[in-house]
Amino acid sequence: MEVKQVKLIYFSPTGTTQKVLESIAEGIAVEDVEHINFTLPEGAQQIIPPFSDELVIIGAPVYGGRLPVDVIKRFKQLKASNTLAIIIVVYGNREFEDALLELKNLALELGFSPVAGGAFIGEHSFATEEVSIANGRPDSLDVQKAIDFGVKVKDRITALQSPDAQIDLDIPGRFPYEADGARAMAVSPVTKEDTCTVCDTCASVCPTAAISINESVATKIELCIRCCACIKYCPEKARVMEDEMWKNIANWLNENCNARKEPRIFGVDL
Ligand SMILES: Cc1cc2nc3c(=O)[nH]c(=O)nc-3n(C[C@H](O)[C@H](O)[C@H](O)COP(=O)(O)O)c2cc1C
Ligand code: SF4
Ligand code: SF4
Repeated sequence: MEVKQVKLIYFSPTGTTQKVLESIAEGIAVEDVEHINFTLPEGAQQIIPPFSDELVIIGAPVYGGRLPVDVIKRFKQLKASNTLAIIIVVYGNREFEDALLELKNLALELGFSPVAGGAFIGEHSFATEEVSIANGRPDSLDVQKAIDFGVKVKDRITALQSPDAQIDLDIPGRFPYEADGARAMAVSPVTKEDTCTVCDTCASVCPTAAISINESVATKIELCIRCCACIKYCPEKARVMEDEMWKNIANWLNENCNARKEPRIFGVDL
C-alpha cells in the first residue's frame, strides 16, 4: 500500500506530543500532511469528516497513567473505516502504564486499524527551570528516533497488500485499566499580579477555557486540568503553581524520575 496522505490528530497543551507526531511524519516523508489539533476549545468543536484511506498518527499525553479525560471526549467524534493508524502517547519520564493500551482500544472503537505504536518522553508538564523532570525532551535523540520510527512504519505499510490485512499490534498495559488517571485536585496555577502584563497568552493557550481576562487574570479552578500550558507559555513567568501538594508531587518526580527513559515502540523494529 502506498502512503499518500498523513493526518496528525492530537491533544497537546504543552506541545511535546505535537512535536513527536511531526517528527514521525517527517520520517514518513509525504507532502500531504494535515493537522487536526484538538487542544484548544475551538479545535475541539471542529467537525471532522470520516477517515478512509489516509494514514493517521493519533497522539495524546499521559495523565496519571491513562489518557486525559478531555482526549477521550474530543477524539470520540472521530469515525474511521479500517483507516491505518499509528498510536502515540507522550509521558513525562515517570511511566505510561495503561495509556497506550487505552489509546489502542479507543482507536479500534472509532474504526481505526492500529498498525504501530509508541510511548515517547516529553518534558513533564509539572517541570520548571528549578524543578527539572525530563526538561527539554523530546530532544534531538528522541526526534531522530521518531523520524526512524516513521521510516520503518512506512516500510511496513508499503509491504501490506490491503488496509484490511489483519494486524495484530501487541501493546503493554492492563485491562480493566488499573491506573487512576489524573486525580481531581481542585487546584490551578495562580497569577503573580506584580509581574503579569495582562497580555492574554495564558487564556489563549488554555485547553479548557478556564482562564478569562478583564483587568486581571481570573481562573475557574473547576475547569483546570493542570496541563501547565499557561505556566509554560507565560512570557513573564507570572503563572505559577503555589499549591503545596502539587509542588510536592513535582519535587517527588524530580527526585525519583530523573533516570533517562527511552522511547518504546511497538509493531516495528528499530
Ligand atoms: C495532570 C497530569 C498528569 C500527568 N501524569 C503523568 C504520568 O502518569 N506519567 C508521566 O510520566 N507523565 C505524566 N504527566 C506528564 C505528561 O504526560 C508529559 O509532560 C507530556 O509530555 C505532556 O504532553 P504535551 O506537551 O503534549 O501536553 C502528567 C501531566 C499532567 C498535566
Ligand atoms: S500569560 Fe502571563 S503575563 Fe500574560 S496575562 Fe497570562 S499571566 Fe499575565
Ligand atoms: S488554567 Fe489549568 S487548564 Fe488552563 S492552561 Fe492553565 S493549567 Fe492548563
